[in-house]
Amino acid sequence: MKTIFSGIQPSGTITLGNYIGALKQFVEMQNDYNCFFCIVDQHAVTVPQDPITLRKNIRSLAALYLAVGIDPEKATLFIQSEVPAHAQAGWMMQCVAYIGELERMTQFKDKSTGKEAVQASLLTYPPLMAADILLYNTDLVPVGEDQKQHMELTRDLAERFNKKYSDILTIPEISIPKVGARIMSLQEPTKKMSKSDPNQKANITPLDDPKQIVKKIKSAVTDSEGIVKFDKENKPGISNLLSIYSILGGKSISEIEEMYDGKGYGEFKSDLADVAVNFFKPIQDRYYELLESPELDRILDEGAAKANLVANKTLKKMENAMGLGRKTRK
Ligand code: TYM
Repeated sequence: MKTIFSGIQPSGTITLGNYIGALKQFVEMQNDYNCFFCIVDQHAVTVPQDPITLRKNIRSLAALYLAVGIDPEKATLFIQSEVPAHAQAGWMMQCVAYIGELERMTQFKDKSTGKEAVQASLLTYPPLMAADILLYNTDLVPVGEDQKQHMELTRDLAERFNKKYSDILTIPEISIPKVGARIMSLQEPTKKMSKSDPNQKANITPLDDPKQIVKKIKSAVTDSEGIVKFDKENKPGISNLLSIYSILGGKSISEIEEMYDGKGYGEFKSDLADVAVNFFKPIQDRYYELLESPELDRILDEGAAKANLVANKTLKKMENAMGLGRKTRK
């Protein structure tokens, strides 16, 4: 059975973009793959985080993974910092990476440009991401489109390590969804929907209450044409809402275009809000149950134990290949 690995940062409540680009794929893939799903808290601290809020967000993300349908019997769910091999292998991948290639990462440029004090970890973030993936002999990584560049670097670093030391790392492939690989901001539909957007109206989260969902969808920026038609170039706002409708409503984009032929944006948006509210209601019910449950800690403990076993094996091989420590060390 092939292995998949993916991670989400607990840097705020996840958005509809994270759900569609990542989580939804995870749930679909867990029946056919050996899965490792990670709450990448060490990635979250590459930008300043309030410690109390971070802890809350870690627990919340764990509950959400399960609430959307990740089954701990099928997939291993764990917290990155509870598997020390990630930071250890991350260091090794930093020793394989070059500063120039890290500086070329668009996410680094976006997050660092114009800032006075930039944490070193923001630059060395991609080697840690590579370590996350490579420790599990991962074949496939389901992510949204924004992670493409990090994935290409992961492959480059793995190939470089294998060439330089020993052929032990599996070169992973990327898996991007056909619809929804890049869900856009509701307020600026040429920009991706992001957890860190300061404008609350720009993103929907699976935990928004019905009133918020209705308000956000109704105020989503569209155009003045009044025709519900998918055209990314000229109608980015409506195209984004069509993608969201298609995924949450389980209908093809052309089916939805037909349903709203001759009708205005008002009716389309109001129906989409209903679709979204009904979609998230059962997820929210499960989420609030899980959040307080000791079951959540049991699942995360078991997940960390399983992940540690696999990750430590690869780590040992990597250390041996690099010549770190003593060969006989237990
Ligand atoms: P993060 O936490 O920013 O996002 C988690 C996942 O959600 C996807 N995503 C989106 N998909 C569609 N539309 C959007 N607007 C949107 N916004 C986010 C992301 O592509 C991602 O799949 N570097 C990663 C975390 C990470 C990771 C890993 C991922 C660390 N180690 C190993 C995979 C494998 C990140 O910042 O994701």
